[in-house]
Amino acid sequence: ALAIWHQLTKSEIPELAKASVLMRDRSRVEETIQAMQRAGPDALQVISDFDMTLSRFAHNGKRCPTTHNILDNDLLINDACKKMIRELLNTYYPIEIDATRTVEEKLPHMVEWWTSVHELLIQQKIRRDLLAQAVKQSSAMLREGYKVFFDRLQEQQVPLLIFSAGLGDILEEVIRQNHVFHPNVHVISNYMDFDQSGVLRAFKGQLIHTFNKRECALLHAAHFRELKERPNVLLLGDSLGDLTMADGVAHTQHALTIGFLNDQVEERKESYVNSYDIVLVKDETMDIPNAILNYIT
Ligand code: TMP
Ligand code: MG
Repeated sequence: ALAIWHQLTKSEIPELAKASVLMRDRSRVEETIQAMQRAGPDALQVISDFDMTLSRFAHNGKRCPTTHNILDNDLLINDACKKMIRELLNTYYPIEIDATRTVEEKLPHMVEWWTSVHELLIQQKIRRDLLAQAVKQSSAMLREGYKVFFDRLQEQQVPLLIFSAGLGDILEEVIRQNHVFHPNVHVISNYMDFDQSGVLRAFKGQLIHTFNKRECALLHAAHFRELKERPNVLLLGDSLGDLTMADGVAHTQHALTIGFLNDQVEERKESYVNSYDIVLVKDETMDIPNAILNYIT
């Protein structure tokens, strides 16, 4: 049996043998991929985080913006507000990725971060008709190979749920401008609520931050119910909080989780390998998800 287990890595999915691919249990990963392949695309759904998972962490050594950071543009917010949002990022992002703190310790800080930023954005009276232009002017980029990823899922009619603690309006604009907002794509995220004149006045629904995706998944149970005949889940994320995105799927048969480890690699490697089935270290491409999808669909 041993010889069969490692066949996938050697021949069918050679990408899995790359040095940047870490696995706690390679045999289990290969068995899961094989089981998903046998069940086929009709049994599959993909659930993915957005910021720093579908979008790039960095390009040519420069950080790429998250959906929140795309708003850092003179079109939308003034200098004083920019400064405050950057200060909040410098305060709270290190807490978000701190390997020495538990999720429970991080929770109140994340709520504070998101709430403060959203309040600042509302004060700026952001105009809906300027969002597309801000996205165009930003350096936001999807990971290399994104088009193959989105197009293949659409061709195979595999639903893709993008589950993001970022800003839904911006996220949609990014994928629209990259021509991959296909009909199989569904988004759960923080959406802006505009008044009649198109000015931001609030955010809709329950606030989503990095570490409450489980509660939000359960809130959106109706979405998952529609997909109940798709028991196999491929999950992509870059935060440990993203692992709970599939908690709304009632009867999971096979789940494969892929985690992008973009930052603080040495500090976080162990916890990522213990939590995700496949960990991709400083990999700015969709090569591994694409190779796996190419095999199973
Ligand atoms: P995600 O769930 O799509 O990854 O989005 C959440 C990310 O957004 C998270 O990693 C932190 C980041 N973020 C910012 O970059 N700036 C902000 O102001 C806030 C509130 C979050
Ligand atoms: Mg993310």
